Amino acid sequence: MIKQAIIPLAGLGTRLLPLTSVFAKELLPINGKPGIEYILEECIDSGIKEIIFIISQKKKIIKKYFYNDQFYKKIIKKKKDNRIISEYKKILRYKKMIKFVYQNKPLGTGDAVLKTKKYIKNKYFLMLLPDDLIIKKNCSKSMIKIHKKFNSSVMASMTVKKESVSRWGIFKFKKHLDKQNSLIDDVIEKPSIKKAPSNKAVIGRYILPKKIFTVLSKQKPGKGGEIHITDAIQSLINNNENFIAHRFSGKYLDCGTMNGYIKSTLKISKL
Ligand code: UTP
Repeated sequence: MIKQAIIPLAGLGTRLLPLTSVFAKELLPINGKPGIEYILEECIDSGIKEIIFIISQKKKIIKKYFYNDQFYKKIIKKKKDNRIISEYKKILRYKKMIKFVYQNKPLGTGDAVLKTKKYIKNKYFLMLLPDDLIIKKNCSKSMIKIHKKFNSSVMASMTVKKESVSRWGIFKFKKHLDKQNSLIDDVIEKPSIKKAPSNKAVIGRYILPKKIFTVLSKQKPGKGGEIHITDAIQSLINNNENFIAHRFSGKYLDCGTMNGYIKSTLKISKL
């Protein structure tokens, strides 16, 4: 049963500087709604009951977004505005589901995941990277179905342009399970074009096993001196854990760059 999701939010967001020097990119509106709310809706709609946000002191504004009760109460008292009341109700509903943990040094995605160790209850949990929006079809929901069918770890995947492989975790598959799902053989973090085993990329949705924490707690820094979740996944694959690459059918929007962010708003506004 997948009932918990984690969302790493403690990165520096250097691709969106200078904006991210003072603001959390995940709160930027995409077609009028903060990006993080699309991610929360995907979680809720896929049956997730608890969501763990990994933030840093620098990104406390994200917590404030959900904990500004006095502010709302005062305004609602003064102005009985139905829009504000329903927005506040929505925030309260989210707040009930979210726990915050801190990663104050951005040592990598693997290190961020490790911060949630003592909160994860079941054998598997979901992880969503908030820069990656997937619209039109709930990717997490489809992945949970695949997880139930094969009882294994699952990652969202997509074919990318050969020239762009160094931006992603790239994998090679062992065998196809069906039209949309394959068993992964090898995965490598941001390889050069020369070293890339394919042009199949991992996108920011993962169903991970709890045992990944044991691997992460012993893991040495990898590329760029960071602890990457991809390296922990490769160690698990080497130890015979099955990882399925799920070719999702929704539309992928990259909100981690300014160009992608602008395009995302345009795409969503046309839905
Ligand atoms: P990235 O490294 O891809 O993005 O992390 P970033 O740090 O947000 O932005 P750039 O690359 O500098 O522009 C992927 C996800 O993992 C989180 C980030 O917040 C992002 O959601 N992350 C990354 C952490 O929580 N901690 C880290 O140490 C690193």
